[in-house]
Amino acid sequence: MLTQVVPKASPQDERSAREIAALQDVYLAFVDTQRRSAKLALEGISLSFKEGEFCSIVGPSGCGKSTILNLIAGLTKPTEGSVICNGKPVAGINTEVGYVTQDDNLLPWRTLQSNVEIALELRGIPKEERARRSRELIDRVGLTGFENHYPAQLSGGMRKRGSIIRTLIYDANLILMDEPFGPLDAQTRLVLQNDLVKLWERARSTVVFVTHDLVEAIALSDRIIVMTATPGRIKKIYDIDIPRPRDVFHIHDAPGFSRIFDALWADIREEIKASMRRDP
Ligand SMILES: Nc1ncnc2c1ncn2[C@@H]1O[C@H](COP(=O)(O)OP(=O)(O)O)[C@@H](O)[C@H]1O
Ligand SMILES: [Mg+2]
Repeated sequence: MLTQVVPKASPQDERSAREIAALQDVYLAFVDTQRRSAKLALEGISLSFKEGEFCSIVGPSGCGKSTILNLIAGLTKPTEGSVICNGKPVAGINTEVGYVTQDDNLLPWRTLQSNVEIALELRGIPKEERARRSRELIDRVGLTGFENHYPAQLSGGMRKRGSIIRTLIYDANLILMDEPFGPLDAQTRLVLQNDLVKLWERARSTVVFVTHDLVEAIALSDRIIVMTATPGRIKKIYDIDIPRPRDVFHIHDAPGFSRIFDALWADIREEIKASMRRDP
C-alpha cells in the first residue's frame, strides 16, 4: 500500500537548514473583560522550526500548546514579541500553512474524494489533475474504493485519514497538527501514526505536532519541545536521533527509547506536580 522511500538527510545533519517559522520572545495574555483581569498563557517563548523537521510540542493540559499553533496560523496575535512564517511576520490568517485539528472537519455533503480536492478546487486546478492527485493520496493511505463515500459512511479512522491527506494535498511547506489522533482508539492511532510517518518521510514538509502522547511524540519527531505548566514557557528541548525510516509499531525497541521516554515523563510529572501545588 505505502511505497518504501529512501529518507533524505535528517534535519539534525543540515546545520544550515532554512527557518520556516519562528516565535521570538512571545508573551500572550488573554484578557477577561468581565472580570477585568488578564491571564498570562505564554511567557517568553522563542522557538525556531527548520525546513523539513518534524517537531512535537508536549506539556500539561492548558500550558499553551494549541495557542502556539494558533499564533503560527495567525488566528491569535501575540501580546508581545513576534511570529514569523516563511520570512515574513504573520499578520492575519496565515494561508501558507496547513492546519489539522482534533476534529476531522470533513464536509458531510461532499464525498471523500471531493473533500480531499477542496484546496485544489479553490486554486482553480483542472478536474483531471485534481482527481489524479487526490486518488494518489487516497491510495497511499489505503482508502481506494471509498472515493465516493460520504463522511457519515466512513469510520473515525478513515475520516481522520481523509482530513490529513486533504491538508497534505496542497503541499504547504508548514503543517500544524493539534492532537490529530486524540479521539481515536489505540490501534487506529498506531495505524495512522504509521501512515503519517510514511507520508511525511516522502514529502518532508515541516510539521509542528501537538500531542499529549509521549510515545507518539518519540515515534514521529526529530525534536520534542516540553513546555511548563501555565503560563507556558519552554522547559526542555530533546533531539530524537532514532534512525529513519522508523517502525512506529516497534518504537519501544528502538535504541534510546526508554531513556527519552523516562526523561520526558519526569519533566511532565514535575510540571503537573508544580501546577497542583499552585492551584490545589
Ligand atoms: N480564547 C481564549 N480566551 C481566554 N483564555 C484562553 C483562550 N484560549 C486559551 N486560553 C487559555 O490559555 C491557556 C492555554 O490554552 P491552550 O493553548 O488551549 O492549552 P493546551 O492546548 O496546552 O491545552 C489555558 O489556560 C486556556 O484556558
Ligand atoms: Mg490544546
